[in-house]
Amino acid sequence: MTSQALRDVRRYEEEAEKKILDESRPGFHLSTRVGWMNDPNGFCYYQGKYHLFYQYHPFDSHWGPMHWGHAVSRDLIHWEYLPVALAPDMPYDYAGCFSGSATVLADGRQLLMYTGVSKEKQPDGSVRDVQVQCIAVGDGMDYEKYAGNPVLTEKDLPQDGSKYDFRDPKIWRKKDGTFACVIANCNQEHDGRILLFESADGFHWQSAGILESNNKRFGRMWECPDFFELEGKHVLITSPQDMLPQGFEYHNGNGTLGLIGDYDEETRQFSGEGNQAIDYGIDFYAPQTIAAPDGRRIMIGWMQNWDTCNLHSPEQPWFGQMSIPRELTIKNGRLYQQPVREIVAYRKNEVKYSDVIFSGEMELPGVLGRRIDLEVQIQPAEVDNIFRKFAIRFAKNESYHTSVSFRPYESIVKIDRKFSGSRRAIIHQRRCLVDEANKGGCIRLRILLDRCSAEVFVNDGEYVLTATIYTEQEADGISFYVDGTAKIDVLKYDLVD
Ligand code: FRU
Repeated sequence: MTSQALRDVRRYEEEAEKKILDESRPGFHLSTRVGWMNDPNGFCYYQGKYHLFYQYHPFDSHWGPMHWGHAVSRDLIHWEYLPVALAPDMPYDYAGCFSGSATVLADGRQLLMYTGVSKEKQPDGSVRDVQVQCIAVGDGMDYEKYAGNPVLTEKDLPQDGSKYDFRDPKIWRKKDGTFACVIANCNQEHDGRILLFESADGFHWQSAGILESNNKRFGRMWECPDFFELEGKHVLITSPQDMLPQGFEYHNGNGTLGLIGDYDEETRQFSGEGNQAIDYGIDFYAPQTIAAPDGRRIMIGWMQNWDTCNLHSPEQPWFGQMSIPRELTIKNGRLYQQPVREIVAYRKNEVKYSDVIFSGEMELPGVLGRRIDLEVQIQPAEVDNIFRKFAIRFAKNESYHTSVSFRPYESIVKIDRKFSGSRRAIIHQRRCLVDEANKGGCIRLRILLDRCSAEVFVNDGEYVLTATIYTEQEADGISFYVDGTAKIDVLKYDLVD
């Protein structure tokens, strides 16, 4: 049964969508159907298709009462919108259906688990959001909220747990058919932690303790947890708020964090050995993963960040896009990310150059475009004469460019969108310390451009830097620059539907 509120939104988005030109959207990244998009939600493989839901405010290109937008894809690249799945229409979620996840029930129905938000008046007259966990069940198109909602509330929290910060359940089905989920929470000091819950049927949940506590190491409240096994290790991903920088690893503000370690299923103890940022660029947050039918662990994130996502005009008909889905692996104790291999089917018009030796700035005929997959292998022209700086400038014309640069003596890769046409006093650069030991000025860069974004995969995905750019589409030039002499191999494809 769909509510009147949901039916109204469905009618609205169908009409409003017609006013958005396809050319104003990214070509192979999911953008919001209309209005506003933030976190990916409910990433799930169901009845032969990938389903992706998202935090959605259809009526405005700014954040508002959260709905769940919905899209499906057969290959994670080409997405089709389905009608909005959830609207904030119940007493326990009237202020928003916040982030959550999806799985498949034993009887074949799809289960969505999300955070319901309502308002609570405080003794001093102020109002705060209270967060509880809820279930909706459906057939891949229409979802019915469970009559027993909410299924987890403040009474299920550890003693010092905050009911105002209890959100973003990530559910999975265990090998024995039962269910588990991780949920973000914080204590009274606003220090983040990840709670573990278990359920025999997906509806009735019990606490299984605290999986991991921040202890003031990485920011404050942690959001959007994900927990999964990968190549014999266990990985906890979360998005901390209010981070302080730590060297080049973590930056100020909302960030992403991956803890890689071991998990003891018996004692429910997780020991995170290594920690790392998930993305070193400007626009990547709240990632969520899925186990694909072929066993790959695939991650997708919101290609934005909270500190700069509110600067656009309210007249803009849409705002918000997802990253390219990325395959995760572990190498040398680090998470590696590569664009899903399905993208290869969209590569057209190959342009290839090998062993090009150059100094200063150059362009290569045929290497240009704003929807491209570009692979560049860089090395010094002579082994003992390493260049000082190498850069690729793209989305370029006489007025604009965005660049990715590499300084081998400092082992720094930098993305810089200062000249992308932005007129705001916001972060335009981010740097990343790459493991350059013994590589002698050699580096591999793969850059995906899709009209208004750039994702840079360094050394086969050892590091990734993601940024949105709103440069006019006519700026489609690409140049290569080196301070010294370099030898490069270049492989470029247009990405075409
Ligand atoms: C993360 C987040 C989540 C919350 C959602 C609300 O970006 O703050 O914690 O559920 O966005 O839209």
